[in-house]
Amino acid sequence: MNFQDLIIKRHSTRRFTDEKLSQDEVVTLIQSALLAPSGRHRRPWQFVAVEDKEKLQKLSLSKTSGAQLIAGAALAIVVTTDPLISDTWVEDAAIAATYIQLQAEDLKLGSCWVHVRERQTADGINSEDYIRKLLNIPLQQQVICIIAIGHKAVETAPAKLDELEWEKVHIDHVKTPEDAAQELIDACQLESMTAERKKVVEQKS
Ligand SMILES: Cc1cc2nc3c(=O)[nH]c(=O)nc-3n(C[C@H](O)[C@H](O)[C@H](O)COP(=O)(O)O)c2cc1C
Repeated sequence: MNFQDLIIKRHSTRRFTDEKLSQDEVVTLIQSALLAPSGRHRRPWQFVAVEDKEKLQKLSLSKTSGAQLIAGAALAIVVTTDPLISDTWVEDAAIAATYIQLQAEDLKLGSCWVHVRERQTADGINSEDYIRKLLNIPLQQQVICIIAIGHKAVETAPAKLDELEWEKVHIDHVKTPEDAAQELIDACQLESMTAERKKVVEQKS
């Protein structure tokens, strides 16, 4: 699969089969995370790879909603990052997490990003503190997200390219409402001028 097809095909997977990942697959996923770019090459991130079923079950309770899917995953990669190492700590961790997801898709595995920062468990415990305690993560490491990975239980449909929000893309500069209105006026004038010209040509012939 080429890279563009991979991007189009990737979708969040929340239902996994019971099949385990091979050691090679786990190493490839982590290697890709470690190859991610980071601000000033500071690499403030750390990754905790969790395959233990009991721990996966506990991670699935790390916030009130949106984390349950971790219980059915073969692997969860907890992405942490140290704000004292770099002021681009959030961006660096997010890019590494994205690399993991793209690598998973390339291995024909499914993955889902589970957000952690500033969330709470059902008991009102800060999600990061809960995960730090469960996995022995030092206090200075902020837990950004958990990438749940496994073999897809169902294939997801590729993205619909005709539903992309091209209106969010701007050429050269973002148009003000006045610019947009003027553009419309110009387009209408051009249309009426073209119609007028057509009439003149028709009259002459
Ligand atoms: C920053 C971020 C946080 C997310 N948090 C969650 C989450 O906590 N639980 C979940 O099931 N999905 C989560 N997702 C997955 C999104 O819901 C999903 O990427 C989005 O709906 C687009 O769908 P797609 O990944 O299938 O293209 C998160 C994705 C991102 C990028």
